[in-house]
Amino acid sequence: MENICAFTGGGRRFSQLILARRDTSNSVEVADRQPLVKDRAEYERLHKWSVDDPQDFWAHMAHDYYWAKKWEANHHEYNFDMRKGPISLSWFKGGRTNLSYNCLDRWVAAGRGNQVCFIWEGNDYGHERTMTYQQVLTETCRLANWLRGQGVRKGDVVTIYLPMICELPIAMLACARIGAVHSIVFGGFSADALAQRIEDGNSRIVITASAVNRATKRVDLKAIVDEAIGKAAKEGYRDVQRVLVYEKSALPREQTPWVLGRDAWWHREIPQRPEYCEPEWMDAEDPLFMLYTSGSTGKPKGVLHTTGGYMVGAGTTCKYLFDLRPGDVYWCTADCGWITGHTYLTYGPLLNGVTNVLFGSTPAHPDAGRCWRIVEKYNVRVLYTAPTLIRSLMQFGDHWVTQHDRSSLRILGTVGEPINPHAWEWYHQVVGEGRCPIVDTWWQTETGAAMITPLPYAWATKPGSATLPFFGVQPVLLTDKGEEIQGPGEGILAIKAPWPSMMRTVYGDHERFEMTYFSAFKGYYFTGDGCRRDEDGFYWITGRVDDVINVSGHRVGTAEVESALTAHDMCAEAAVIGVPHAVKGESIYAYVTLLDEATPTAKLHAELVNLVKSQIGSFAAPDVIHWAPGLPKTRSGKIMRRVLRKIAADQLDELGDTSTLAEPQVVDQLIASRPKTL
Ligand code: WT7
Repeated sequence: MENICAFTGGGRRFSQLILARRDTSNSVEVADRQPLVKDRAEYERLHKWSVDDPQDFWAHMAHDYYWAKKWEANHHEYNFDMRKGPISLSWFKGGRTNLSYNCLDRWVAAGRGNQVCFIWEGNDYGHERTMTYQQVLTETCRLANWLRGQGVRKGDVVTIYLPMICELPIAMLACARIGAVHSIVFGGFSADALAQRIEDGNSRIVITASAVNRATKRVDLKAIVDEAIGKAAKEGYRDVQRVLVYEKSALPREQTPWVLGRDAWWHREIPQRPEYCEPEWMDAEDPLFMLYTSGSTGKPKGVLHTTGGYMVGAGTTCKYLFDLRPGDVYWCTADCGWITGHTYLTYGPLLNGVTNVLFGSTPAHPDAGRCWRIVEKYNVRVLYTAPTLIRSLMQFGDHWVTQHDRSSLRILGTVGEPINPHAWEWYHQVVGEGRCPIVDTWWQTETGAAMITPLPYAWATKPGSATLPFFGVQPVLLTDKGEEIQGPGEGILAIKAPWPSMMRTVYGDHERFEMTYFSAFKGYYFTGDGCRRDEDGFYWITGRVDDVINVSGHRVGTAEVESALTAHDMCAEAAVIGVPHAVKGESIYAYVTLLDEATPTAKLHAELVNLVKSQIGSFAAPDVIHWAPGLPKTRSGKIMRRVLRKIAADQLDELGDTSTLAEPQVVDQLIASRPKTL
């Protein structure tokens, strides 16, 4: 068979056809082939079709994929208005398909079995591995057969707690192959957080690795899994029957903690399984995966995505956002533990048959040139990353970037938080040499796929704006009273009608789904973000309007951090807010009121921070603890976070009206008690 190894031949493509050269104040973009959408007029035409006749438009897009059974003529139904009954929606009703088949078998059948599917770069230089589409298919089938052998059936939940190795997307695909619902828990979450997710999903199987090295630190994943299962058992959940463990050199097998009869080694179990596994043909509305995400209140929610709509949404957006063709070298720096790693590292890219770079280290390890070395080494065409990574690498200086050849780059994407114009310019000018469009994609765990985003080469972008809605997306800006704002203006971002990849429910709690997303503004999906629309119709996301903090693109719920802090015996009350941070976007600032008998000490400070680390994970640890004599509350007892935000950000002249506070003197006390280091 022909070896279509994408990075050993066709890397340099920039001598090819130059199609569009546009000199505007902020973009000079050169396409080396006919872009999928050539200009705004073509986009407008497609977008109009997608909202006038969504059923027809998406059926057209769905033809890119293999369906064992076609959907019904009326495949799309929905109710977005709680006043008319339960929130519900369907896409491709009656259709049957399988994600792993479409990501793998389809390409093997098309003669791409020998094309590289994954290029994995580990923690250290020289630590690399490639797997072809055929190899990934075989490994997926073997694992799928093992899972079936353990009694896993369609609809069962499998928890995955793996580092960024090829086996992580393979585990996702193996679940999808047999209709098991995967629930990935990011490797940075603590044992407590993992226990909560295993229990909530009623998971009987956990897939993990012995340990992993991240930069200079080792994370003992298997030990954390053991601890989590122990914690769940204490709370009465004893259903975990099997733990499958992938051996990583960071911790060899002899040193890995082991529970006889329950634990199984990947290298012993998987290679012996048959190398083909018949896919389970799933109904379009059967669950595919769930992923926990934080909101402003309560425990994290298991966001549930289904098969057909998610597949078409992930595949179509990935194709248009990054102008993809099979064989392109594509690199998304996300971890599979977050939604970006689901849609734009696993499913979207493989549905498009690309050669996919998987990065298992941190961006500045062992030095600040690591990312650009990877771009050069594999001739990366599309790079998709987060503003926080851009800002963190920017600090080290341009030479780390410019010493590497980046001529293979064509499209640069960002996601996760608003990108500040300074970082945007650096990404565009220094990384992309001013010739690569910046695709700033706004979306959420709940939306499953990109919602507001530029299409490369189709229109000139503006730094900091995600520009225009993707096909099928109908954003609106609402006033506090729920009235739609027309034309330019600013308000709360909501969506008027469903799109294929949207979440269907909160796992096990449909009422919570309705209350969270559909109760504030009847008839709309509520995003939780504020947004501005300018005179060109471009959207500018202004950040969350609820109590969610975005730390380095990770969503952290204030209620979760507060509940961890108040778990300390000496803590009377806590209030947590986000403050602007130069690299992380936002950092966590915690106001803590101690019991009368307690004295604030460095030891107590450390204990509080450690509580957050152990209940959630290190990424949610507060940067500042402010010993607060009291908290500003309204007479009805509601904490006024607006005041707390202003004090933390040192914007004392913007405190606004504090006369409605139950005890207005609290404000002065808080100002006087600010930590010295600020
Ligand atoms: C929240 C969703 C979408 C994958 C990663 C985060 C913020 C996301 C952007 C962007 C401005 C953005 C929003 C959103 N956000 N992308 N391009 N510009 N803000 O997924 O953890 O579900 O968080 O991230 O506030 O609501 P998530």
